Amino acid sequence: MRRLRRDLLRPLVRENRLSIDELIMPIFVDENISVKKEIPSMPAYYRFPVNEVADEVGRAMEKGIKAFILFGIPAYKDEVASSAFDKNGVVQKAVGKIKAEHDDAVVITDVCLCEYTTHGHCGIVRDGIILNDETLPVLGKIAVSHAEAGADIVAPSGMMDGMVKAIRSSLDSNGFQNVAIMSYSAKYASNFYGPFRDAAESGYAFGDRRSYQMDFHNGREALREVELDLNEGADIVMVKPALAYLDILKAVKDKFGAPTAAYNVSGEYAMVKAAGKMGWLDERQIAYEILVAIKRAGADLIITYHAIEIAEFLG
Ligand code: PBG
Repeated sequence: MRRLRRDLLRPLVRENRLSIDELIMPIFVDENISVKKEIPSMPAYYRFPVNEVADEVGRAMEKGIKAFILFGIPAYKDEVASSAFDKNGVVQKAVGKIKAEHDDAVVITDVCLCEYTTHGHCGIVRDGIILNDETLPVLGKIAVSHAEAGADIVAPSGMMDGMVKAIRSSLDSNGFQNVAIMSYSAKYASNFYGPFRDAAESGYAFGDRRSYQMDFHNGREALREVELDLNEGADIVMVKPALAYLDILKAVKDKFGAPTAAYNVSGEYAMVKAAGKMGWLDERQIAYEILVAIKRAGADLIITYHAIEIAEFLG
C-alpha cells in the first residue's frame, strides 16, 4: 500500500478533493449597526451592516467563493415575526444590494422565524407551544419575500413538518418556480449552535428547541426526515451539524443520492478557533481536514465559517 503514498504519486490516487465551488459562506447582516462588529464567541467572524454586505461578498468572491447564505438581525421583533417577511426587511435589503453589485453571486437565504420573534422560537407560539401548521403560511411568506428580493435558493431551517411543501407551493403560485429549496432536513437539537445564537441574537426566551429539532440519539429518523423533504420538493437536503454527524451524512447520501449539504456549524468553528488561539492545534490544517472529512462522508456542499480561510488555503 505504501508505494502510492510518495508525494509524487499521492495526488494521482487521491479520492476526494475539496473545491472552493462547493463552499457556502454564511453572512450575518445586522440592521442595528453602522460598522461591522466582531462576534465574541466566533473570533474573526463579523456581523455586517446592510451597507457593507455587498463589499464583503465582493471580497469573498475575489478569493473564489461563489455562494453565500444570509442571516438577518432585524431592528424590530414581535410575536409573529413580521419583520421576517417585510419587503424592506434586513435580509430583503441585503439580497437586493448583493444582487445589484454581484449578479453572479449565488444568494441563499435562511428562512426561519427565530431571529425575528421576541420569544426566539422558530414558529408561532401559543400557550408556550410552538405551533406547526400555523407557522407554515408564515414560512411561505418569508420565502416569497426573499425570492422577490432576488434570492436564488431559500433554506428553511425551522424543522416544521410540511415546511418544504408549504414553501414550494407559495413560491410556485407567486411565479418563483425557479427558486430552489435547500432544506435543513436533518437538523438536530444540538449544543453546537451556541455561538450562532450570539451571532444572530436568536436565543429563546423559554424552553428549548427539542420539540422541533431532532434528538441526537437518533440516526434512522434522519432518513425519514430527508425522504419527506425530497417528496415535498426539496432540491437540496441538509444535515446539521456536520462533524459529529458524519454517519448521518453518509447514510443520507448513500440512500438518496440527492444533492446533499452539510452545515459545519458555529460551535465547530469556535472549537477550532479556540484551540488555534491557544496554539494547541494548527487551525488551518484542522479546518481543512474537517472539511475534507465532511466531503468524504458525502457532502456536495458545505456551509462553513472557515470559507474565506480555506479559499485562501486552497489558493
Ligand atoms: C435558525 C438557525 C440556527 C442555525 C442556523 N439557522 C440556530 C438554531 O437552530 O438554534 C445554527 C447555525 C450555526 O450554529 O452555525 N433556525
